[in-house]
Amino acid sequence: MPDPEGLVMHGGMIAVVNVDSGTRDEMLGMLERLRAADVRALARAVSLAEDDGPGARELVAACRSYREAALRIGVTGPPGAGKSTLVEHMVRWLRGRRDTVAVIAVDPSSPYTGGALLGDRIRMQGIAGDDGVYVRSMASRGAMGGLARAVGDVCDVMAASGRGAIVIETVGVGQDEVDVARLADVTVLVLVPGMGDDVQSLKAGVMEVADVFVVNKSDREGAERVVAEIVAMQGLSASRDGWLPPVVQTVATTGAGVAELMEAVRRCAEAKKGARRRGPVEPRGLRLDHLGVAVKSIAAARGFYEALGMSVAHEETVEHERVRTAMLPVGESRIELLEPTTEDSVIGRFLAKRGEGLHHVAVHVEGIDAMFARLKADGVRLASDAVRVGAGGHRYFFVHPASTGGVLLEIVSSPRASSPGTPIVGEA
Ligand code: CO
Repeated sequence: MPDPEGLVMHGGMIAVVNVDSGTRDEMLGMLERLRAADVRALARAVSLAEDDGPGARELVAACRSYREAALRIGVTGPPGAGKSTLVEHMVRWLRGRRDTVAVIAVDPSSPYTGGALLGDRIRMQGIAGDDGVYVRSMASRGAMGGLARAVGDVCDVMAASGRGAIVIETVGVGQDEVDVARLADVTVLVLVPGMGDDVQSLKAGVMEVADVFVVNKSDREGAERVVAEIVAMQGLSASRDGWLPPVVQTVATTGAGVAELMEAVRRCAEAKKGARRRGPVEPRGLRLDHLGVAVKSIAAARGFYEALGMSVAHEETVEHERVRTAMLPVGESRIELLEPTTEDSVIGRFLAKRGEGLHHVAVHVEGIDAMFARLKADGVRLASDAVRVGAGGHRYFFVHPASTGGVLLEIVSSPRASSPGTPIVGEA
């Protein structure tokens, strides 16, 4: 399989390595049409992502940075709860607000994929023929497994095509469905009166995944009892991120309660986004990686550090950055001395303007793509247009001093293979 990290973005253009040039050209064209909201390109891209065909990994990787642009709403619950009809009303409500919508109907028990079976089930009356609504069925991937991953990939493709909301409907409440529901930003659990042992019959995992409870068919007898059971059960669990899942009553056949449901979804999405912003962005692997110091001459500057007992572990000239670097380990961190090879380089211009001194602070993370996407979505001013690959296989991007309290911040991830240096220079 092609290496997804072989994908590098340059000024908005995407270069893909490890796939043949025909596949690459096809993929670039597809991404362009996808970004232009071409519905046929969306259908082809979704099929490619679902089938995991040639170029699929690269396409999905390119789409990933748009993930946060779409609100993913999961709708799950036992069969017969009226989910499809409810989804139809949710889609109508979103369209009323001029949001473009994608619907993924997930049926892990079905051997059919992309077929008419689930498409028929979601009738979408009055919605058919509206380009603003794209409906897709997804079924079991068989021995290949990874249904949740496939659904996640398809979501990223849909988000890249500019769909503002993605509704993911699952048929049942099995483990596959719960895994799929976890992908959503907001998960709606639909229950109905008269479902046997009612709330107690549901597995704990299904209840835990719910952000909003819906008691559908609430004009039926027993609705109040289901509401009471949910509320009683909630008393046993603490709220997550300050969000206590509300219980909304609906009648899907008439659309009653759908506006209240969508308001609850909106409030939940905001609460979660707020919690994410307050908390660490992506806490894995966080540590101070190195301090980048711009100097006129490494030969002249290193003497002081060597007198301190430090030594140069790695020296390298990075031609495309027109800089020579020397890495001096300091405990878990390093000092990176940066000497320009020409005056007309990033570091050369920095020296001319500011003189020798601290150029950047580098923080190590794991999950650098997610970090890049989230900072971008949160409106942080970035000094790189994409995650780049530096020498030694390190991937990195820069955050503008305007967003960091006045220091150019490099976010860097570990290289694939061990490599001693990070000869990386950013554009301030
Ligand atoms: Co650096």
